Amino acid sequence: MEFENQANQTHNIRLTCCSWSWMKFTFLAVLYCLVLSPASAYDPLDPTGNITIKWDVMSWTPDGYVAAVTMNNFQMYRQISNPGWTLTWSWAKKEVIWTMVGAQTTEQGDCSKFKAAIPHCCKKTPTVVDLLPGVPYNQQFTNCCKGGVLASWGQDPLAAVSGFQVSVGQAGTSNKTVKLPKNFTLLGPGPGYTCGPAKVVPSTVFLTTDRRRKTQALMTWNVTCTYSQFLASKHPSCCVSFSSFYNETIVPCPSCACGCHNKNNCLKSDSVLAHKTGINTPKKDNSPLLQCTHHMCPIRVHWHVKQNYKDYWRVKMSVTNFNYRMNYTEWTLVAQHPNLNNVTQVFSFDYKPLIPYQSVNDTGMFYGMKFYNDLLMEAGPLGNIQSEVLMRKDQNTFTFKQGWAFPRRVYFNGDECMLPPPDAYPSLPNSGHVNSNSILQKAASVLLIMFSICFSL
Ligand SMILES: *[C@@H]1O[C@H](CO)[C@@H](O)[C@H](O)[C@H]1NC(C)=O
Ligand SMILES: *[C@@H]1O[C@H](CO)[C@@H](O)[C@H](O)[C@H]1NC(C)=O
Ligand SMILES: *[C@@H]1O[C@H](CO)[C@@H](O)[C@H](O)[C@H]1NC(C)=O
Ligand SMILES: *[C@@H]1O[C@H](CO)[C@@H](O)[C@H](O)[C@H]1NC(C)=O
Ligand SMILES: *[C@@H]1O[C@H](CO)[C@@H](O)[C@H](O)[C@H]1NC(C)=O
Ligand SMILES: *[C@@H]1O[C@H](CO)[C@@H](O)[C@H](O)[C@H]1NC(C)=O
Ligand SMILES: *[C@@H]1O[C@H](CO)[C@@H](O)[C@H](O)[C@H]1NC(C)=O
Ligand SMILES: *[C@@H]1O[C@H](CO)[C@@H](O)[C@H](O)[C@H]1NC(C)=O
Repeated sequence: MEFENQANQTHNIRLTCCSWSWMKFTFLAVLYCLVLSPASAYDPLDPTGNITIKWDVMSWTPDGYVAAVTMNNFQMYRQISNPGWTLTWSWAKKEVIWTMVGAQTTEQGDCSKFKAAIPHCCKKTPTVVDLLPGVPYNQQFTNCCKGGVLASWGQDPLAAVSGFQVSVGQAGTSNKTVKLPKNFTLLGPGPGYTCGPAKVVPSTVFLTTDRRRKTQALMTWNVTCTYSQFLASKHPSCCVSFSSFYNETIVPCPSCACGCHNKNNCLKSDSVLAHKTGINTPKKDNSPLLQCTHHMCPIRVHWHVKQNYKDYWRVKMSVTNFNYRMNYTEWTLVAQHPNLNNVTQVFSFDYKPLIPYQSVNDTGMFYGMKFYNDLLMEAGPLGNIQSEVLMRKDQNTFTFKQGWAFPRRVYFNGDECMLPPPDAYPSLPNSGHVNSNSILQKAASVLLIMFSICFSL
């Protein structure tokens, strides 16, 4: 008994001893997790990025309504690429879709109760996809028929919208009796998006083509969907490697940066198979066929610090595709680096600064020039693109020390790429890098611990 007490006491003392630092640590870790939480779907470089789906009721019918549905991609640098979006929702009551223009449901469902006219879809949860380009004019609708491909807002706002028309039956026939569809899900083309509930918003006002008259939707509701990379995939989909003119070390992508789960399915680039025809045929589910690498990423971004001038410095960036089954159309590359506030010239790529917050100007997006390099070809001799960036030095902050010249964050097609660990960055010859390295190492290990706490929470 006495022994037990004593043991308890020492335990208590130990608890209070470490509880302060423990509390501080936990607080930091929780803070960190809030910032990085998988559920919060928050992208610090595009804090308001979302896809908004808007339903405008254009007319009431004897048994329902006709709505124009518009999908706007408000994300600065995340597009929806081939094979395009898929949208599903659940009807609140017994609604059916009489007709659809500019899109279609993938299944009709059981319409056996209908005798005279047969609806387009009778499913409780219809699954809708865009039509392919080139359908007859009478099946088209404004902004439809692009195979579900949506450009990013930053690259091409006019191509960042998709639309279709739906005639709904067995539904409410006034703004008092209509029930909003529920449980929206959006695939773009894979998972990653979370959609909120439909909300009635002020009716959309339309301007006639001659801009002399305004008309108004009878009722409008919006659904907002946001993206989370953690929901999209367990592993990153790209990695970053570094090199510099001042150190011959090439810092490779971290090993298994994108997971080594498909290591057995990769192809050696010089193998007979890699030259066989048919290898480049995309699979229906978009599953990749990767070239074998130690990182197993479909995409590698290389950042080379190429040249140093008195007032300027130059970086060469190249992007390599390791997926035999994927051509990346309308790709985007985002980099965060403090000196991107003074870009003098970008060669071979289009460039646009991103200003997520009024005060911070350290992020920019790069994308291909139309008909020149806006297509990143499948793995192989043509599967890479490159560019050079000339930046003006700010003499107060510019340095080659401690990896300053390397990017803080890199995204490809809206997904964050894995950087090499901080202690591996190319260092200046004879710089006191032992010291700084050990600090960086400490920082890295703290980050690592926080990460594991985040994922176990
Ligand atoms: C969606 O994006 C638009 C454009 O950036 C923004 O104005 C709007 O507030 C966003 N909506 C939500 C719910 O975040
Ligand atoms: C509804 O969505 C449209 C874009 O489709 C947007 O312009 C409008 O601001 C949204 N309304 C609200 C209240 O979020
Ligand atoms: C519904 O329609 C009535 C007129 O028919 C209008 O006064 C009212 O504002 C509308 N309500 C909504 C939510 O649109
Ligand atoms: C919402 O939709 C998803 C996918 O369509 C489905 O798995 C889920 O059961 C639905 N939830 C509700 C509450 O209807
Ligand atoms: C990529 O594009 C080229 C040229 O348009 C085409 O020949 C090739 O089949 C495409 N590859 C894939 C994987 O779609
Ligand atoms: C941000 O930097 C770019 C150069 O990279 C410059 O063109 C742009 O004007 C800057 N924007 C602001 C708000 O400072
Ligand atoms: C870019 O560099 C020029 C020349 O040094 C300087 O005048 C200007 O203020 C810089 N711009 C920014 C945003 O730092
Ligand atoms: C180049 O950088 C690496 C990695 O930081 C470092 O280990 C190496 O000593 C550097 N080389 C020289 C010549 O300084």
